[in-house]
Amino acid sequence: MSYYSGKLAVLQSEDVSQVFSQDFADQLVVPCYESVTKKTPEDFFLTWRNGELKLIDKELLKKGGLSVDINPRNGEQRSWPAPKEGTLAQAIGRKTKTVIDATTGWAQDSLHIFRMGYDLRCIERSPIMLALLEDAFNRLEQLDWMQRLKLSAPQLLAGNAIDVLAGLDDAPDCIYIDPMFPAKRKKSALPKKSMLILRDLLGDDLDREALFEAAFAAATKKVVVKCPDHAEPLGGKPSVSFGSKLLRYDVYLKG
Ligand SMILES: C[S@@+](CC[C@H](N)C(=O)[O-])C[C@H]1O[C@@H](n2cnc3c(N)ncnc32)[C@H](O)[C@@H]1O
Repeated sequence: MSYYSGKLAVLQSEDVSQVFSQDFADQLVVPCYESVTKKTPEDFFLTWRNGELKLIDKELLKKGGLSVDINPRNGEQRSWPAPKEGTLAQAIGRKTKTVIDATTGWAQDSLHIFRMGYDLRCIERSPIMLALLEDAFNRLEQLDWMQRLKLSAPQLLAGNAIDVLAGLDDAPDCIYIDPMFPAKRKKSALPKKSMLILRDLLGDDLDREALFEAAFAAATKKVVVKCPDHAEPLGGKPSVSFGSKLLRYDVYLKG
């Protein structure tokens, strides 16, 4: 039985053939439907709209749905490489060359890191997120500036990062982790719809301490942990932290 059974289905679309949808649903071990009715038990659907793979919940069915956004964030310079500015760049550091994002999710941090010119690999364990990321990285490679600069999308590694990092032949300078922490009591940054959906579908990342240990063992220079203001530092006292009231990047230097 699939981990997603009762939660997720594939919805056929005019964008792809019925056989393609069915194969995709078989890979995820979830049902494939022609349409959704009130009686459909699942709350989440993967489907193709406007040339993109989208994750849709019942509420959003008539709206656009969510895909991995490959566009630069507001205010980010639209050149490559973009300047290494802001708290994320400060945490990763100017001397760092190679980075692994061990918790890629919607890839907003990954794509920011990639656009700043770091040599990036991405790990993700959720088959749903992997499907959305594969679709996004294919779209990224079609962009004019990517083609003009002959750039390839970051390499996507599937699996639990704890195992993937332990088996690396070529360790990166820096490993970046942004696991899902439990939701907070009072005031905190309002999570985006995309993050709420991830929490609904995947739950909190309960093995985040083991992930930190694996990252610290594997990185050659540093581990950067993104966490909400209220969270205890994942690896004890960090060497240095950057951030604002609602969000921190804790940096753990090696040696
Ligand atoms: C909070 S989201 C990351 C959001 C991401 N930084 C972004 O900018 O969109 C956490 C993601 O990490 C993945 N993840 C958590 N622990 C993992 C692990 N041990 N191995 C691989 N992926 C993991 C989860 O499946 C989820 O997609």
